[in-house]
Amino acid sequence: MLNQLEVTQQQALDELAQVNSREALRAWELKYLGKKGQITELVRSVGQLPKEERASFGKRANEIKQALTAAYAEREALVEEQELARDLEEGQIDVTLPGRPVNRGGLHPSTQTLRQFYDIWGDMGFQIYRSREVEDDDTNFTLLNIPPHHPARDMQDTFYTTTPNVILRTHTSPGQIRAMRDLGGNGTLPIRVILPGMVYRYEQITARSEIQFHQVEGLAIGRNITMTDLKGTMAAFARRVYGENARVRFRASYFPFTEPSMEVDVECFLCKGEGCRVCKYSGWIEIAGSGMVHPVVLQNGGYDPAEWSGFAFGMGPERMTMNKHGINDIRYFWANDLRFLEQF
Ligand code: DAH
Repeated sequence: MLNQLEVTQQQALDELAQVNSREALRAWELKYLGKKGQITELVRSVGQLPKEERASFGKRANEIKQALTAAYAEREALVEEQELARDLEEGQIDVTLPGRPVNRGGLHPSTQTLRQFYDIWGDMGFQIYRSREVEDDDTNFTLLNIPPHHPARDMQDTFYTTTPNVILRTHTSPGQIRAMRDLGGNGTLPIRVILPGMVYRYEQITARSEIQFHQVEGLAIGRNITMTDLKGTMAAFARRVYGENARVRFRASYFPFTEPSMEVDVECFLCKGEGCRVCKYSGWIEIAGSGMVHPVVLQNGGYDPAEWSGFAFGMGPERMTMNKHGINDIRYFWANDLRFLEQF
């Protein structure tokens, strides 16, 4: 039996030398050192020996068991080291491979135009004033010199709410009243602001008209502001957007909240005035409504029209974006179609 023990040990050591994985290690342990392992069984059979041989057998059996356990631990460390090395090699990154493309978001074309406008007006000393989209009828119309039943109300079909007097603003002009009352120091301080934001109109949606779109309103209030300031300011803006040589013209117009009022046109950037599809063969593109702030509006904002004057303007960034990129349908702007949006 002692001989059997030595043979089994040798066999176990030979097999262990071949073991190269955790699974094989576990199988080896079970086979020799487990509860029903060959060494364990041999040790257990000590009782079959004559009494005088038992002590030396037991001693040798223990030695062998310890030797095998030590050999096992050593092999286990080696196998783990090898597996780690293998894992590291397999997981290694090949830095020469091309990277996987990352999907980038982009800015909405209207946002791009708005930000360009903020930069330009900011350079000219205009701060951004954010007025509310949910307005009251008075501020949207009456305080802007558009009393109830005034025909000008028909030009801006309105979204009413179930709350009397509460509407969605049809233009950014009511922000003029709020800016004057908020920043004007009761009619004692000059103001230079732009008021960007969404406006809403209850209209049939077509290629040319949407129920929501942006406007950028402008307002300058001071002690000696004249029409010259308005013209120079609009011309400077047009040159920043359409280039140093952009020509502008002013056409007499009518708005209830300005007097006098005028429309601002820029020479068509595409045909240079020759006439083309973009400018509808007129050679000019309309970029803003504008005028000198009406005395009634100044008064409603808290200013004394005898001492103060100002100019105002309103622009449509979507219209201008459409001209710039040759977009022929305004419905693309809020349709959330990536095929459209990804082009900008
Ligand atoms: N509120 C006008 C509209 O929506 C645009 C406008 C015209 C704004 C003239 C102004 C202005 O400030 O002076 O049609």
